[in-house]
Amino acid sequence: MIQIYRLTMRFPSGIEALRDVSLRVHEGELVFLSGRSGAGKTTLFDLVTAELRPTEGQILVAGRNLATLKTAQVPFLRRGIGRLWEDIRLLPDRSVHNNISVSLEISGVDARQAKRRVDQVLELVGMEKHAASYPSWLSSAEQQRVALARAIVHEPSLVLADEPTGHLDPDAAHAILQMLRDLKSRGTTVVIATRDARLPARFEERVIVLNKGFLIEDDGETTSAGGV
Ligand SMILES: Nc1ncnc2c1ncn2[C@@H]1O[C@H](COP(=O)(O)OP(=O)(O)OP(=O)(O)O)[C@@H](O)[C@H]1O
Ligand SMILES: [Mg+2]
Repeated sequence: MIQIYRLTMRFPSGIEALRDVSLRVHEGELVFLSGRSGAGKTTLFDLVTAELRPTEGQILVAGRNLATLKTAQVPFLRRGIGRLWEDIRLLPDRSVHNNISVSLEISGVDARQAKRRVDQVLELVGMEKHAASYPSWLSSAEQQRVALARAIVHEPSLVLADEPTGHLDPDAAHAILQMLRDLKSRGTTVVIATRDARLPARFEERVIVLNKGFLIEDDGETTSAGGV
């Protein structure tokens, strides 16, 4: 699903957020991307969604080489990727329902079908009673559930969850992680970035560790393996 080969990201400031990173995430895997603050986790997600272009190296997502992706194809790439942002990013002036339906409408889904689909995903995350609420009325845990509903409304084959438990108490964190694992069990590839090194230990899933931009650990496979 994701193939990364010798990836380096150097910002104009000279900071190297990623240094010679190679990894593969296979279809249907759930992987924790662990590392301290500043390790390069969010930068890696930005590269996979083509928000950033790498300084060096190659990225393939679902077989598509991002280096040769035309600007017009970027929305299609992103539609296949559900993203949870560290800062959640719900639109404050729109209802929960609208927060989720807006991207469906942009991609041309008709209003009735969009409503049905939004109702479905809200039910999936247990937020169906809050469809008419505004984000500021919700707790952090509820906001994160809505963000998850938004991330999966296009039925993406890949979900990138950036610090999804950062704002949550242990029970709410567990619930969100369980929902992400349910996605995996339905065949979705899931990558969970976290700076909480203890979090992955609670699950028997693959862990990749970044440190200062270097990939220092990958218990899933040998990182030197193969190109793209
Ligand atoms: N747009 C940018 N311009 C310059 N430097 C950046 C930019 N974005 C990130 N960086 C730098 O790249 C490094 C990695 O940042 P990144 O946000 O990817 O880390 P992270 O692992 O997501 O950290 P956190 O756990 O705090 O979210 C940091 O040193 C950061 O300052
Ligand atoms: Mg980050």
